[in-house]
Formats: sequence, C-alpha cells, structure tokens
Amino acid sequence: MSPRGLELDGLLELLEKEHVIMIGTLASLREAIQRRDVQAARSIIQGMDETLVQHFLDEESTLLLLIVQAFGREGAAESIGIFQEHIEIDSLVGKLRETLMSGVDSSAMAWRELDEFMESHFNRENSTAFPCVREAARRLGLEGKQ
Ligand SMILES: [Fe+2]
Ligand SMILES: [Fe+2]
Repeated sequence: MSPRGLELDGLLELLEKEHVIMIGTLASLREAIQRRDVQAARSIIQGMDETLVQHFLDEESTLLLLIVQAFGREGAAESIGIFQEHIEIDSLVGKLRETLMSGVDSSAMAWRELDEFMESHFNRENSTAFPCVREAARRLGLEGKQ
C-alpha cells in the first residue's frame, strides 16, 4: 500500500470525510455488539481496519512530511504526538476484536474505550493537525519550495 496521490486539499477533505464515516462505523459496531452479532461485528471491524491502514498511512507520510518540512521536527512535535495515537487505536481495535468471543459486557467496554479514543483523536486532527498542514503548505508555497 502506498499513500494516495491526491492534491493536498482533496486529501484533507477525504480524510475529514473518513473521520465522519468512521464515527458512523463505530455506531454500527455498537449495534452489532448489542445484538450479539459477532460475525457482523467482525466484518465491521475488518472494514474499519482496512480504511484505517490507508488513512493512517496518508497522515503519517504525506501530512507529516509537509509539517516537518515547514516547521522542522521540533515544530512538528504536537502533530507527531497526535499521529502517534494511531498505535493506541490499533491496539484498542485489536483488544475489541479479542473481546468479541468473551461476551457482550467486555465487548461493550472495549467498544467504549475505542470510541472515546478515536473521537478525541479525530477532533485533535481536525482542530490541530489538519490546520497545521494547511499552514505548512501555505508557508512552503510562499517560500517556493512546493
Ligand atoms: Fe489519525
Ligand atoms: Fe485521521
């Protein structure tokens, strides 16, 4: 898999749209867990995982590169911290997958943990990392390096 070769504006729009889609996916996942439909829950998680792999790759390669180019590694520290949350998301998804066989209570708990973490992650990206990328592109553009 490689980063999607989109214009930055189009890529950011797509990533923001995927945040909205994944919030919806999490809601469907909760419904599947509540009706104890392990098979449906598994397939929803599988689909979400596939979206996340590409989504994370675009953020960690394309977006981060621009931020580091414009602000240096120190200036990029906050965005690096935000994108490092992907590791925790992966681990929470794995944890949720493991709970699916062990009953609705532990699955519901694992779901809540993932849902809260992902929503806060998306909010941090929408409010901090993505504006930072836009500013980075503007600066790089102004400096004629893009
Ligand atoms: Fe992210
Ligand atoms: Fe994201």
